[in-house]
Amino acid sequence: MTLYLTQEDVKKVLDMPSTIKAVEDGFREMGKKAIEMPPRVYLHFPKGVLIAMPAYMPGLGVAGTKLVTVHPDNKKDYNLPAVIARIVLNSPENGIPLAIMDGTYITALRTGAAGAVGIKYLSREDSEIVGLCGAGVQGRSQIMGLMEVRPNVKKVKVYDIIPEAKTLFINEMKKIYPKIEFISVNTPEDATKDSDIIITCTPSPIPFIKGEWLKEGAHVSAIGADTAAKRELETSVLLKCTKISVDYIPQAFVVGDFALPKEEGAITEEDIYAEMGEIVCGKKQGRINKKEITLFKATGLAIEDVGTAAIVYNLAINKNIGLKLQS
Ligand SMILES: NC(=O)c1ccc[n+]([C@@H]2O[C@H](COP(=O)([O-])OP(=O)(O)OC[C@H]3O[C@@H](n4cnc5c(N)ncnc54)[C@H](O)[C@@H]3O)[C@@H](O)[C@H]2O)c1
Repeated sequence: MTLYLTQEDVKKVLDMPSTIKAVEDGFREMGKKAIEMPPRVYLHFPKGVLIAMPAYMPGLGVAGTKLVTVHPDNKKDYNLPAVIARIVLNSPENGIPLAIMDGTYITALRTGAAGAVGIKYLSREDSEIVGLCGAGVQGRSQIMGLMEVRPNVKKVKVYDIIPEAKTLFINEMKKIYPKIEFISVNTPEDATKDSDIIITCTPSPIPFIKGEWLKEGAHVSAIGADTAAKRELETSVLLKCTKISVDYIPQAFVVGDFALPKEEGAITEEDIYAEMGEIVCGKKQGRINKKEITLFKATGLAIEDVGTAAIVYNLAINKNIGLKLQS
């Protein structure tokens, strides 16, 4: 029997605290070198790509693959979403596909959870002011994750190149988090200066955050650049940060935030303090004082998708949600 779960089914059972736990558990297994996660496999179509992302975590008894397509013109051409994802969860014991489920909502939530894990281990516990660049799907998810790990945040400064996106976002967030002040700012500099935590989640091809804007003790959560063509951080950010962590070194050096600074000779793999898994499993320390300027660069990992999908599967079975398919 294979359980089929639609996006609506996934939304019924999955929340941010469970997603943070799944992602943190996955990082811990990765830090212990107890995972199998081969490099992503790509198929290139005329108008998009298909990416296969498998992962196996023996310690958690979890295995599966995310299949995600990215067709940037889908909305315009077919009124379809640009990103479409499914996750197949397999039993490591006998291989049967336990579940096939929507992966789009899981991708959105697990990325917010990854940012939150970075914030938990690297930002100052007394962080109060946040600058958010990019008021889209990830903007929402990153704020959801942030609020779980830094509930004392008082103010979020929101920047987006589309003013309407900013207004819509702020109105929505004020309803969900009435105690937090959400304000609109007009430049990335305004979002960054004086902020304790800076979150970037845009598809920008041109870097827009400068190192000189970061204050002592700040933490940068860089989420948006997940391909070679995207870049949010100027090289000066990497040079200003005193502790740099990434989710996975080989993947981080392929995306614009690190690939171009490496080409310029400004940074090498040796400048990375730790992969997040090494910090979560205790092999390396997270933030150790109030002065460090920290950076977490998340590129997105299959362990995050598959770990979260396993939680969704267990919750759905317990709540009798989903369609049971016979093989
Ligand atoms: N690291 C990961 O694991 C991961 C996972 C999912 C998505 N992403 C990436 O995160 C980025 C955002 O994804 P999304 O789903 O939120 O997209 P989205 O389209 O929902 O939102 C992006 C927002 O960024 C704004 N924006 C674009 N360029 C900007 C700029 N230069 N400055 C300020 N704002 C700008 C847009 O107006 C939009 O409101 C994408 O690049 C996506 O591929 C990364």
